[in-house]
Amino acid sequence: MLILGGTTEASALAQLLADAPLSATLSLAGRTQNPTLPPIDCRIGGFGGAEGLAAWMREHRVTALIDATHPFASRMPFHAAQAAISTGIPLLSLLRPAWQRQSKDQWLEVEDHAAAITALGAEPRRVFLTVGRMELAAYATEPQHFYVIRSIDPVAPRPLPHAVWLTGRGPFTVESEQALMAEHRIEYLISKNSGGSATEAKLIAARMLRLPVILIRRPPRPDAKHVATAEEAIQWILCIHGLSS
Ligand SMILES: NC(=O)c1ccc[n+]([C@@H]2O[C@H](COP(=O)([O-])OP(=O)(O)OC[C@H]3O[C@@H](n4cnc5c(N)ncnc54)[C@H](OP(=O)(O)O)[C@@H]3O)[C@@H](O)[C@H]2O)c1
Repeated sequence: MLILGGTTEASALAQLLADAPLSATLSLAGRTQNPTLPPIDCRIGGFGGAEGLAAWMREHRVTALIDATHPFASRMPFHAAQAAISTGIPLLSLLRPAWQRQSKDQWLEVEDHAAAITALGAEPRRVFLTVGRMELAAYATEPQHFYVIRSIDPVAPRPLPHAVWLTGRGPFTVESEQALMAEHRIEYLISKNSGGSATEAKLIAARMLRLPVILIRRPPRPDAKHVATAEEAIQWILCIHGLSS
């Protein structure tokens, strides 16, 4: 089994596979400085495109590929689909559902960071920006806004002059998110539509505070059989290996 990870769901699947009669490797891209290591084999770093991934799977006699990359990983899902076709190895996509708008939400859904910045307008705003440290450069084009930026790892160099820099890894509580937004007199929340419960509290807090949210839509994914939870993924894995009860 090869699991392409970097998500809570991939870690949960690794945990379930640790007790299964199958050997599995979790692959991480290596972006996070101190990743939580799984109870199964782990490799870190790129494969060298779809061909490199296919070669790795042949060499390690992989019998199933699980793409559990983040909903905003835009390239790896396509590499996984291509490698699955070229090797004939079955592929499952483990993808958490997107967040859904609720009646009191003031969401503006946009395609990308450039559109998010445009939606803020020219007048200086106070913005809670939770898009991840790799994607801050787009916001440097509008330095007149005040940003509160939260990322898992510290950001260096810091591309925005007028900002408060916080580090933190979910899950966060609605109360702490509300307190943070109130403390910094936040007017807008900008987030990717990552889905999942670990970081959903900020959306609930924005709803309760009646704050507008600029939500970036997910990038396209290739067509693949998909499930939403690690439990469903392990059922699929056991089934294709003839191990289901
Ligand atoms: N993008 C996000 O918002 C986000 C958020 C949280 C976690 N992550 C995780 O961070 C990783 C990188 O994200 P990204 O947006 O840069 O993805 P990406 O654009 O889809 O991938 C870029 C390159 O990183 C390598 N890579 C990605 N995932 C890998 C994995 N699981 N194992 C080994 N190599 C991997 C591949 O290099 P090669 O072509 O050399 O194989 C890939 O071409 C992903 O694993 C994703 O699950 C991403």
